[in-house]
Parts: sequence; structure tokens; C-alpha cells
Amino acid sequence: MAVMALVDAHARPLKNLRLSVTDRCNLRCQYCMPEPDYVWLPREDILQFEEIEQLVELFLELGVDKVRLTGGEPLLRRDLPDLVERLARREAIRDLAITTNGVLLADAAADLKRAGMHRVTVSLDTLDRERFKALARFDELDRVLKGLDVAADVFPGFKMDTVLIRGTNDDEMIPLLEFARARGAELRFIEYMDVGGATHWNPSQVVSRAEMLERLGAHYGPITAIEEAGSAPADRFRLPDGLVFGIIASTTAPFCANCDRSRLTADGLWYLCLYAARGIDLRGPLRGGAGRESLKELITGVWHARTDRGAEHRLHARGRSPLIPVSSLKRDPHLEMHTRGG
Ligand code: GTP
Ligand code: 5AD
Ligand code: SF4
Repeated sequence: MAVMALVDAHARPLKNLRLSVTDRCNLRCQYCMPEPDYVWLPREDILQFEEIEQLVELFLELGVDKVRLTGGEPLLRRDLPDLVERLARREAIRDLAITTNGVLLADAAADLKRAGMHRVTVSLDTLDRERFKALARFDELDRVLKGLDVAADVFPGFKMDTVLIRGTNDDEMIPLLEFARARGAELRFIEYMDVGGATHWNPSQVVSRAEMLERLGAHYGPITAIEEAGSAPADRFRLPDGLVFGIIASTTAPFCANCDRSRLTADGLWYLCLYAARGIDLRGPLRGGAGRESLKELITGVWHARTDRGAEHRLHARGRSPLIPVSSLKRDPHLEMHTRGG
């Protein structure tokens, strides 16, 4: 039976669900969790695996076919492979992935693979131990590097994410690319975004896609853009020697026009945009006994009305500074990037 695709007010389909399984993290990256302390989501509000599964099932019936587990740090969620196994059974999930900081990956990778995880993406912003400590507040580079080596074996062709910050790690573009090449990984450079927890964000720290290409071109020679259709946030490029890498230009060239993604927080709030001020409570109705059909109606109605183009709006903001003041973040942890899953 043909199902009418569910599209929003800008004809964008509902395809891609980012599922945050915990708001906790074992690092404190400057661009995400720079503050000394945080307000955590109440434990009793965190969705159980059964509840996550029930919600995911509805999203799959409404058109989602890509699911990505995020955090905080998703590997901190106890028994995560059990959840992966439950999700991997569902044929409607064409792509099941996880974004991790890599600290716990060396031990977890084989279990994730066995449970049915298709892909992993590992964040890595620096190869220098002291710099890692300054950037992420914990001396964990060695464990991350072990995790990356294991990922190269267990998830060949995995991806790596690097947020570039001027004056912090932008002198490491080439070593990081070569590091990824040696492990068969596809590296993506990410423009620093003024979202959620990026409370020290400043426009002068953003290295734009144009500048990244110029600097890499000066070293490697002419870079070719790979033309491809789709809604993925990364534009892909090829070096003259054939190495492929990506750039996620969310700050200077947002992909809102094709954005088919939404996110579910660990406590069951559904966000239609990384920049959205509020999420839709799905936990309340789910726990209150709302039936499947009424939850599907809720999701359908909300997606139909979706007009969010958060990153584009920011592009037109004057005198850009961090999106949200620290005092508001403390009042509502849902405004944090680490609660929304990066
Ligand atoms: P694949 O392309 O499927 O491998 O995954 P992905 O790139 O969507 O996932 P990943 O978690 O690696 O995301 C990479 C980065 O893209 C994030 O860390 C964010 O910086 C950015 N990003 C992800 N989702 C959004 C979004 O909804 N809006 C914007 N503006 N940026 C996003
Ligand atoms: N700018 C860009 N990317 C960010 N992330 C978190 N905060 C920011 C930010 N301010 C992304 C990074 C990280 C992932 C979990 O979330 O890609 O690796
Ligand atoms: Fe860093 Fe990710 Fe943890 Fe944020 S959630 S502090 S980006 S490791």
C-alpha cells in the first residue's frame, strides 16, 4: 500500500530522527558544555527502552527511515546495546547510527556491531593531549584514540566530526585529515555554531567553509566538490589525491531548506529544529495512556505545521552573539545542545 509522505509546511519530509538517550556527558567540550555545573533532567522523566521503542515505531510508520542515537554521550546509557538490538530489528530503519565522543568506544564497539548498529561517527577536535584537556576538560585523548582504532576495524569507513574554532584547533586541519585517511575514515569539519551551550561563541572564532576550502586548497591543490542530491548536512569534497572529506556549514550556509530531521530528548520532548525554543511533549501523552493513533495524529499535525528554519534565521541576525544566555540555560536544560543531541 502506498503511503502519502508526511511533509511539513515547506514540503520537507519527516525522515531523520535523532534520539538522545541521555543528557549526561563524560567530557565538557568548550563549544557545548563550558559551564562549571549543569542542571540534569530528572531521572524519572528519562524514557525507558520500551517507551523509546514505542515512540520510534510511530515515527517509522510516519516516514522516518534514519535513526541516530545521540547524547550527551550515548555510551553512558546503561545497556545501550539492548536498545540498539530492539531498534535494529525494525526493517523500516534503513540507517541506524550513533554519534559518540569515543571515550568509551573501544570497549563498546563490538557489542554495538553485534546488536546491529550500522554506522558510528566519532567526534575528534584535536590530536594534542594538552589541547584536548583544555578543550574537553578531561585527559581522555588516549582512550578516544583507542576507540578510533577499534572503530576503524569494527565499523570500516566510519565518520569523524571536528568542530573548528579559530585560534583553538584550526591549525590541525591537515593532521586531522591525515589521521582520518590512515584509518579509512571520512572526516567532516564543522563550522562552530552559536547554538545552545555555546555560551562563549563569538563570530570571530568561526572558520567558514570558504576559508576551510581555501586553506586546504593551498596545501593539497585544487579541491573538487562532489555533487549529490540529498539532505545530509555535510557537503562532500575530494582532494586531488582522491581523499574525500566533508564540511558542515551550519553557520554560514545552513541546510534548513532540506532539513528532514527532528530530535527526541531523553525525556521525550520532540524538537523540530536544533534552534527551536520549545519541544512537543510526547512523554506526557505516552505515559498518560494516549493510544497509538492519537499520538500519531499529534505527530502528524505538528509536522504538517512545521515552519522552522532556525539556522537560516540566525544567519540574518544582526550583531550575532550566543543564542541563549546562561541564566536561561540554567532554567531550562532543554535549551542545551547536549540535551538536544548535537
Ligand atoms: P550523517 O550525515 O547521516 O552521517 O549524520 P549527521 O552528519 O547528520 O550526524 P552527526 O551527528 O555527525 O552531525 C554532525 C553535525 O551536524 C552535528 O554535530 C551538528 O553540528 C550538525 N547538525 C546536526 N543536526 C543538525 C541540525 O538539525 N541543524 C543544524 N543546523 N546542524 C545540525
Ligand atoms: N557548534 C558546532 N557543533 C557542535 N556540536 C556541539 N556543539 C556544537 C557547536 N557549538 C556538535 C559536534 C559534536 C557533536 C556531539 O555536536 O559535532 O561533535
Ligand atoms: Fe562534548 Fe558531545 Fe559531551 Fe557536548 S555532548 S560535551 S560535544 S562530548
